[in-house]
Amino acid sequence: MTRLGLTDTTLRDAHQSLLATRLRLEDMLPAVEMLDAVGFHSLEVWGGATFDTCLRFLGEDPWERLRLLRKGFKKSKLQMLLRGQNLVGYKHYPDDIVTEFVRRAAGDGIDIFRIFDGLNDVRNMETAIRAAKDAGAHVQGTVSYTVSPIHDVCSFTRTAKELAELGVDSICVKDMAGIITPYDAELIIRRLKEAVGLPVQLHCHYTSGMGSMAYLKAAEAGVDVVDTAISTLALGTSQPPTESLVAALAGTARDTGLDLALLARIAEFFREVRKKYAEVDVGTTVDVNVIRYQIPGGMYSNFIAQLEQQKALDRLPEVLAELPRLRQEMGYPPLVTPSSQIVGSQAVLNVLAGERFKMVSNETKAYMRGLYGLPPGEVDDAVRRKVIGDEALVTVRPADLLPPGLEEARREAAPLAESAQDVLSYALFPPQAKKFLEERLAARTGIDQRVLAQTAAEVERGKVYPAP
Ligand code: CO
Repeated sequence: MTRLGLTDTTLRDAHQSLLATRLRLEDMLPAVEMLDAVGFHSLEVWGGATFDTCLRFLGEDPWERLRLLRKGFKKSKLQMLLRGQNLVGYKHYPDDIVTEFVRRAAGDGIDIFRIFDGLNDVRNMETAIRAAKDAGAHVQGTVSYTVSPIHDVCSFTRTAKELAELGVDSICVKDMAGIITPYDAELIIRRLKEAVGLPVQLHCHYTSGMGSMAYLKAAEAGVDVVDTAISTLALGTSQPPTESLVAALAGTARDTGLDLALLARIAEFFREVRKKYAEVDVGTTVDVNVIRYQIPGGMYSNFIAQLEQQKALDRLPEVLAELPRLRQEMGYPPLVTPSSQIVGSQAVLNVLAGERFKMVSNETKAYMRGLYGLPPGEVDDAVRRKVIGDEALVTVRPADLLPPGLEEARREAAPLAESAQDVLSYALFPPQAKKFLEERLAARTGIDQRVLAQTAAEVERGKVYPAP
């Protein structure tokens, strides 16, 4: 066997899981030289929720972040997480936007695209896979791991084979909930290695406390790469810590060859950085409830936030009990974006409304119609009727129903967009991108946006300004 490769997730999944995705570029760049020197298989630095958070909360241009990271990383491969037809958003985008997004992301520095779909519906990954291949990138097809009566090593292998047929370069088993047991990991990795014939990577979260054990058994079963985060941003809902795995495998057939002294310096850097984000830090404890409820990193804290907002934190046990029942009725979707949000919000509604499905989110309706793709299992008929009545079901690939959207986005973003990337930001998150682009323009031109708005309001009210 050969060296075990490590993908470092510190700059993406780790802070998405522990610090509400708030890590700023200024707290990444000073570590780039050290991270680049480690010799990781790759570093996941973009995608997932980072894009959205840049625009919505940080006032950062996500594309600029990518380009600056690319400039800093001289020799390492950079990786992103892409939600198939949802890209880095929460709904399906038209094919022309998906293709253009992937092309630009590759152009700005992404070497490896990890592409998944919340329902393991391979049709929702096709367009992104094709675009990434056309861009000459490494395409990693993803099998979202979950525990349910209809998911087993055979169903995961079937999904992986479908992805292989689309020409992906490697397979990722994505345990976003952090619930895979060491022996399940061993079994699945061994089977995939035999049956699919592609490199296999395992992505775990530490939520249940089993992540490092799963990696060890997976390493013995021949997994090619696993995902870890630097110790000071690892554990809890984040990834297993890099340093422990490096030490555990030193001197064995799967020795990672990485330098613990250098990793210690990186850990020290992020220990200090983390203190700046104490306000959003969810901390790092093992949560045994995730094994019972299959809640991915982040979902549990979302529940707490949603219930706190409604001053109903005492209903948490009911929500946690509602979740498995609801999931069965919805055909056992893996709990990953966006299905985790759909199922999670609906579980909260079902509990707080006092009657199940008395209140139904638009997303639940869309899901029941098939607009997110084909649920892995049977959807409960009675529940479906309750949610959508006798509306027609969608059986084609959902994006087949979407007209092209890029031209319209170009037209609408034209006054503010300075690049094709700006147009894409707008196409994905119109209000957030508009606000970001306006503020950027105001900052550049030195015009205070509040003064501008005030002036516009005064002109509207009939106040006349003398011509200059
Ligand atoms: Co993850």
